[in-house]
Amino acid sequence: MKHLLKMLDLSSEEITQILDLADQLKYEKKHGIAHPYLEGKSIGLIFQKSSTRTRVSFETGMNQLGGQALFLSARDLQIGRGEPVQDTARVLSRYLDAIMIRTFEQKEVEDLAEYGSIPIINGLTDFSHPCQVLADLMTIREKYGDLKGLKMAYVGDGDNMANSLIVGGLKMGMCVAVATPNEYKPDDLVLDFANDYDSFLWTTDPKEAVQNADVVITDTWASMGVESEKEIRKIAFAPYQVNDSLMELAKENAMVLHCLPAYREQEITEKVFEEHADEIFEEAENRLHAQKAVMVLLMKD
Ligand code: CP
Ligand code: NVA
Repeated sequence: MKHLLKMLDLSSEEITQILDLADQLKYEKKHGIAHPYLEGKSIGLIFQKSSTRTRVSFETGMNQLGGQALFLSARDLQIGRGEPVQDTARVLSRYLDAIMIRTFEQKEVEDLAEYGSIPIINGLTDFSHPCQVLADLMTIREKYGDLKGLKMAYVGDGDNMANSLIVGGLKMGMCVAVATPNEYKPDDLVLDFANDYDSFLWTTDPKEAVQNADVVITDTWASMGVESEKEIRKIAFAPYQVNDSLMELAKENAMVLHCLPAYREQEITEKVFEEHADEIFEEAENRLHAQKAVMVLLMKD
């Protein structure tokens, strides 16, 4: 593993390796065992979109590993004034040991990896959110012990979360059922990958997707970059709300996950959210551990 650009690039073995190390790092953190595996290393964090979890978990995570993290707002970098990504990559490669980037186009992340000479981590693009999905898989595995054979249902927008959950879930042997409106399907590249699996279902019917699920996942209906479509989307996605009547179709004690930020009474009701708040905030915590594992695997000498 040289970079973390998208879930499609990872093998099941690599995902398992990340999750195992994340569990170990979580244990070490909880028991006050120092783990300065990246002493002297630096990571740059480039943000072209807002962030709470990603920024704070990368910064503190790197600190706990003994290295330093530099927050690089695209507003301040020359990239924001049109300096090509190719040049930025070649310059930053000479100062840093890795770069995490949150941006719009997946191509920008792939270009950084192509032109730079250090590991690149995707901290969210319109296409993919691999760091979040690694944390999600970690959280599901913590509850059930094993991912194989579990049913994951994703309901809502066929966005970066849907794309990454489908690939991550299928690669780890889960059954994945996704319900989105026809106009908001997951990316074709992901559907092409997923359609080779008998354990994959895409439907427009949220009830069909959630039937007998072990874990139900949703995300905002208006991701960063499409906020202007918020009102149209509220109408299109209204039947896709995760609420009590939908949850009745899932297995008893099914988990509910949400990458956050969550919009109450839109993609999820306040009631379902609060009933599953422990799981959702464990998921948020696991961003820290999963990303520390990714940084160690990519950056350790
Ligand atoms: N889930 C997630 O990536 O959160 P932030 O946008 O706050 O980083
Ligand atoms: N799909 C959301 C995820 C936020 C963490 C977005 O891209 O805005």
